Amino acid sequence: MITLEDVKKNPEVKALIKASSDALEAMQYTEHGLRHASYVSATSCMILKNLGYDEHYQELAKIAGYVHDIGNAINRKDHGVSSGILMYSILKDMGMPISDVCEICSALGNHEEEIGWVVNPISAALVIADKSDAHRTRVSRLNQSDIHDVVNFSILKNIVLVDGEKKIISAKFYMDESSSVMDYLSIFLSRIIMSEKASQFLGCTFKLYINDVVINTPKQLGGAKADKS
Ligand SMILES: [Fe+2]
Ligand SMILES: [Fe+2]
Repeated sequence: MITLEDVKKNPEVKALIKASSDALEAMQYTEHGLRHASYVSATSCMILKNLGYDEHYQELAKIAGYVHDIGNAINRKDHGVSSGILMYSILKDMGMPISDVCEICSALGNHEEEIGWVVNPISAALVIADKSDAHRTRVSRLNQSDIHDVVNFSILKNIVLVDGEKKIISAKFYMDESSSVMDYLSIFLSRIIMSEKASQFLGCTFKLYINDVVINTPKQLGGAKADKS
């Protein structure tokens, strides 16, 4: 079985994560290097583990989380699709069963809120993990006129909790007063909605807390269908 440790050692993966991180640093985006990759990997795995998915599936989620942003090495636009295409060849060449390769690549290609759709449990876990990673350590050079920088910098702690019995996934953020809930919502609303849909896919309710106050209306979003127009 191909593991995350195998993927971490792959020279193509190493080079693509570095190229992705360097490209986004040049664009003055928030940090997208090994810290973000490792956080999303561990959190994706934790979500599926707490919901009873087996170790093999947890490992696939770990891998997906680690490599989800490598497509930024090609271009920020549609980077999830690029990640999926790049990892298809790499994982296939490493000898991963093709059904597992496809499941990971579908998750990668669907993790962006602009074009993504939650398509499988790995995809759902990846979305929740990725969208929960807002934190001041992701701001390398604080630009006060960039609202993403300002909001991220104000977040002192972020955590995802999964109650497997009650089927509740909670994302908790602790902000100081250098930003506001309004600022947070103004840039992250589409991410919150995608996390709600991802939680629903996993049979769970999603709760968003900021400074221990629930911000969204926890609900089951029944009947969501892809826009086929
Ligand atoms: Fe991404
Ligand atoms: Fe990401």
